[in-house]
Amino acid sequence: MAAVPAVPTHTLNDGNAIPAVGFGCYTGTGGDPATLVASALASGYRLLDTALRYDNEDAVGAAVRASGLDRDDVVVTTKLPGRLQGRGAAREALETSLGNLGLDRIDLYLIHWPLPRLDLYVDTWRELIAFRDEGLVRSIGVCNFTEAHLSRLIEATVVVPAVNQVELHPYWPQDALRAFHAEHGIVTEGWSPLGRGALLCSAEVTAIAETHGVSTAQAVLRWQVQVGSVPLPKSSDPQRQRANLDLFGFALTDEEMATIAGVDHERLSGQDPDEYEEF
Ligand code: A2P
Repeated sequence: MAAVPAVPTHTLNDGNAIPAVGFGCYTGTGGDPATLVASALASGYRLLDTALRYDNEDAVGAAVRASGLDRDDVVVTTKLPGRLQGRGAAREALETSLGNLGLDRIDLYLIHWPLPRLDLYVDTWRELIAFRDEGLVRSIGVCNFTEAHLSRLIEATVVVPAVNQVELHPYWPQDALRAFHAEHGIVTEGWSPLGRGALLCSAEVTAIAETHGVSTAQAVLRWQVQVGSVPLPKSSDPQRQRANLDLFGFALTDEEMATIAGVDHERLSGQDPDEYEEF
């Protein structure tokens, strides 16, 4: 296998480690997931992010098993969907994901959305704690939880999520939530770190990228690494996959960081975790 970019790690609050950049395996917009994930692993990604909802866990698991990599060297993330929140149902979700992946453990298991209207996320979290204690999953966390949702979990169970994966990119930098995470030892992961490609049209960011001899995407992703978030970029192209991981040979100045954070702030598509429902 060709040399791959060196990627540092974050140590989670349970002592496990995850790479500082991961690969977003969502392929709802096209592309063969097995080919994409095989190429991401060959490019050097060791953190994979999928979900039962994405309907591609079988391809992700097959790519991991076929990669020839030591199982302990790859962090496989998947997520529990809204339709299977709650006691009992959560175990069905886990067993389905383990079966789809064809793996005997999940490295990072996340609640996909809080769905506060259902009011099942605390019960679901108790199930994830049990899965971790049984050794079926290594680390547990959540996605799209607000400070209020996180506080409720912590008060009810005293178990702090290892990770909260949220929409995060310069258009939606999540400063207050990131500060809360830092205070509680929660690692932030960012979905749609390139703003689904929209950020690549920013002339200011492109000018900064040019001064470092990198692509606009690399500058945007480096901004996320420097704010302490773990970006999960998606790409169907092996060269872009590799470039998106190659973020550790340059650093943005404080001024450049501020310029990138200074773009207009707006969510991508109105997915407010207090309201948004996905099952
Ligand atoms: P492609 O698959 O053709 O590379 P996000 O991860 O924020 O959802 O963004 C994903 C989008 O960004 C995809 O459309 C992807 O297209 C594009 N993309 C990913 N990496 C790069 C890159 N390095 N340069 C340009 N476009 C990219």
